[in-house]
Amino acid sequence: MITTVHPQATAWLGLEGRVCVVTGGGSGIGEETARQLAQAGAAVAVLDRDESAACRVAAEIAATGALAIGIAADVSLASEVTAAAAKVRAELGACQVLVNNAAARKPGALLDMPLEQWNQVLSVNLTGALICTQAFGQQMVNAGRGGSIIHVASIVGEHPLPNGGAYSASKAGMMMLARTLAVELAAHRIRSNVVCPGLVRTPFSEDAYQAPDLLRQREDMIPAGRVSSPLDLANAIVFLASDRSSYVNGQELHVDGGLRQTLMSQVPRAGKSLPR
Ligand SMILES: NC(=O)c1ccc[n+]([C@@H]2O[C@H](COP(=O)([O-])OP(=O)(O)OC[C@H]3O[C@@H](n4cnc5c(N)ncnc54)[C@H](O)[C@@H]3O)[C@@H](O)[C@H]2O)c1
Repeated sequence: MITTVHPQATAWLGLEGRVCVVTGGGSGIGEETARQLAQAGAAVAVLDRDESAACRVAAEIAATGALAIGIAADVSLASEVTAAAAKVRAELGACQVLVNNAAARKPGALLDMPLEQWNQVLSVNLTGALICTQAFGQQMVNAGRGGSIIHVASIVGEHPLPNGGAYSASKAGMMMLARTLAVELAAHRIRSNVVCPGLVRTPFSEDAYQAPDLLRQREDMIPAGRVSSPLDLANAIVFLASDRSSYVNGQELHVDGGLRQTLMSQVPRAGKSLPR
């Protein structure tokens, strides 16, 4: 597995000196994405509600010689995102790549879900992505150099997650937000694409993997034979951020090891046991 970007690949990606903002950059997929963008030569703003996490990741990246700053902001609060955008502009320059990655999850069945809980999930995952796009997308438009926005959704935005309906709906909404932005911003040479993770081991999901046998059961279901790591997602995000994807716009890139293609494998067949 590729863990570092080869020096020649830095030029190949065309990300050197680009100003990239990663929301939810203090943990998991966002943290690894910030690291990989920095390794590709970008200047990175690690934005997270958790200030100490944002500053830790930024400090670790800066220790490698790359340019990185940590910023505390809740993506669902326009005032905090506006202040964060001003800080990025002042300290790094105009944003050229935005990764909308921060997310909230609240388990619960839809029929009796308190509206407050529904609104919390939607306000971070969907409205938060819009708020960040408005703040940082405006910088892209003003600078006139184009840009790339990558939205981290989920395969559950297309396949319902029982007892996770607010989360599923928010990710489905994010996909349409991304497609609409792809059309609205194309004249400014700003692209908007989605990465859909399947099953990923991150601090968020790690508790589940402590359950006996869960990892093996999941590995058995995934054609790739393994649960993904944050690096699998970061590699796809870096591609969509880079000039190498310059003709890719309004797309959903599923990074799930083939998991979505296994529906027919689950259907019982006469006289045959279930395939692996
Ligand atoms: N882990 C998985 O299995 C999985 C699967 C599919 C999709 N995803 C998606 O990938 C993305 C990253 O997930 P992860 O597993 O790395 O999560 P994580 O919990 O490890 O990291 C998320 C980060 O977002 C920050 N955050 C949360 N709410 C925020 C807010 N309102 N404002 C700013 N920052 C906020 C958190 O502090 C945390 O640092 C999410 O969009 C998630 O929906 C994850």
